[in-house]
This record gives sequence, structure tokens and C-alpha cells, in this order.
Amino acid sequence: MTKRRKTIGGNWKMNLDRKGSIALAEKLASEADTESLDLCIYPALPWLDGVAGVLGGAASPIRLGAQNFYGKSNGSFTGEISLEMLRDIDCQMVLVGHSERRHKLGEPDVLVNQKLLTALDGGFDVTLCIGETLKQREADQTDAVNTAQLCYGLAGVSSQQLAQVTIAYEPVWAIGTGESATPEDAASAHAAIRRYMEFAYGAEAAAAIRIQYGGSVKPDNAADFFAQEDIDGALVGGASLEAEDFLQIIRLAASADGN
Ligand code: 13P
Repeated sequence: MTKRRKTIGGNWKMNLDRKGSIALAEKLASEADTESLDLCIYPALPWLDGVAGVLGGAASPIRLGAQNFYGKSNGSFTGEISLEMLRDIDCQMVLVGHSERRHKLGEPDVLVNQKLLTALDGGFDVTLCIGETLKQREADQTDAVNTAQLCYGLAGVSSQQLAQVTIAYEPVWAIGTGESATPEDAASAHAAIRRYMEFAYGAEAAAAIRIQYGGSVKPDNAADFFAQEDIDGALVGGASLEAEDFLQIIRLAASADGN
């Protein structure tokens, strides 16, 4: 089994108020054991600065991530937030391609790719989210959809830059529904993703890249995902809003085989 350090993300989406975000960050900062894994939290944008204050800067063992940004350094882009602004508050990671941005807000592959390239050039680590809809799954298109989203999303990314990339496989139908993929189905999708990465970047890069599973990960199913060879962690939505649930998922990742 290839040893890859597990990586856990908490995507808080458009949830929690300022007080709740700070309290959750404080609890994680004092109780999450990050020695054997990477942990990143993605608070809602207005609370990033406050959470940054809790985490204590770039050297924090818990990394600060942004759910969204605009790929220009500054200027007349009403309502947008730049990577420079994120860097200013020690934000080090960004999400791109999340299914809610693809499907609810209409972000196309070309924009996903543009944002990803800008973030990599700006020195950010990027989690590229991919995944199929229920209709695509029922039509047996899971691997084809994932491959296409990888192909478009990673266009122009060099082998060196790939070290800044994590992939999150999040089947759209499993997000926020309570209906997760089976660990075996997720493992099969992850294996296909890794095969594509081998085709595109070679065996060494494919063995090194980390692929998170996301979609209704909870304390009672997380261990089954982490036990799969090609699943290197989780991108957690709902369960990352509850300190005890998220801490339990982090503990399960830390104690999973391969760590
Ligand atoms: P849930 O864990 O709520 O299904 O959300 C997953 C997700 O979208 C993480 O980015």
C-alpha cells in the first residue's frame, strides 16, 4: 500500500455565524490531533479573518482555506475577493470546482481551470473537486465524467505544480443528502481517478497525489472510506459543523491503516 498522509477538509459552506465559526475553530485548534494528517478548514468568507486570528497564522497546524475567490489580483470586480486578500490573512488553500459552484452557480470547466491555474501560480494549494450527478451515475458515466473534469480542470498544470493539488471526489448525489457512496463504489472511482493521473502525469505523480472522498461522510462511515487503498481522506460538509463529529472523523483518519 502506498503511504500517503491523510488529508481532511472541513467545508463549512454558507453556514455558522461569526461566533459559531470562531468557537468551532477554537475547539479544533485545541483538540484536533494533526500530527499524522493534514487538516484544513474552509469557513464562510466573512469569518475568514476572525478564524485566521484563532489559528494563529501561516505556521498553524490547521490550515485556513477559502471556498471561493476571483482570479484577478485587484480592480473593478464588484463583490469579488482576490488571492492577494486571502494571502493577507494567511489563507493557504482554496477550493475549486465544487459541485455547488458548478451546478448551482453555473461555473463551467473553463472557469474552474482558470481559477485553479491562477491559484497555483499564486502559490496556493488547491483542492479540485470533481464528481458525477445521479443521472450520469445511472448512465454508467462516473469514470468518464471524472476523467473529463480532471482533464479540463488540470489543463496546463505542470508536474511540479501538481504537488500543490489535492483532488476531492464528491459524487453530486451524495452531497448533503445523507446518502453516501458505498466505500467500494468510492474506491472504484478513486482508482479510476488515479489511473487517469498516471496516464496524464506518470506513475510517481499518480502514486503521490491525494484523493479525498466527499459526500455525507460521518463519524459512523468515515473509517470504511479511510480503509480503502485509494481514499486519502475526506472533504466533509455537514459533519464538519459539529465539533465532536468532525473531531471523531479526524481521529479515525489519524488512526487509519497507512498512517
Ligand atoms: P456533506 O458532507 O454535507 O455531504 O458535504 C460534502 C461536501 O460538499 C464537502 O465539500
